[in-house]
Amino acid sequence: MPARLDHTIVRSRDRFAGARFLTRLLDAPEPTAFGPFASVPLDGGVTLDYLDDGAQEIVSQHLAFLVSDEEFDAIFGRVREGGLDYWADPHHRDPGRVNHLFGGRGVYIEDPDGHSIEFITHTYVAD
Ligand SMILES: [Fe+2]
Repeated sequence: MPARLDHTIVRSRDRFAGARFLTRLLDAPEPTAFGPFASVPLDGGVTLDYLDDGAQEIVSQHLAFLVSDEEFDAIFGRVREGGLDYWADPHHRDPGRVNHLFGGRGVYIEDPDGHSIEFITHTYVAD
């Protein structure tokens, strides 16, 4: 594949609040201001640019993060400590549980803007 995703825009009501929700779960550095964005650089060279210019309605996006087992434990601990709702499935039919698909673990939460955030320890992609 001759292209690598470099960045994408995540619509938010409050760009720093939305970006910090993620960085705090990941225990990542604070988001940085870049023009109208609150930027969250991720491993692999892709950046999430949170934008709150109000120019478009916020439509729920799905963002899935592949993490190690140790990172999953830490993130899931912060989810529980924060009293966040979580689900084993993307349709929120299985609350308060994680899944064990693809030989790993996975969990879904919602961010303050209604984006569906997923953490998985094993990619869906067959290897
Ligand atoms: Fe997903």
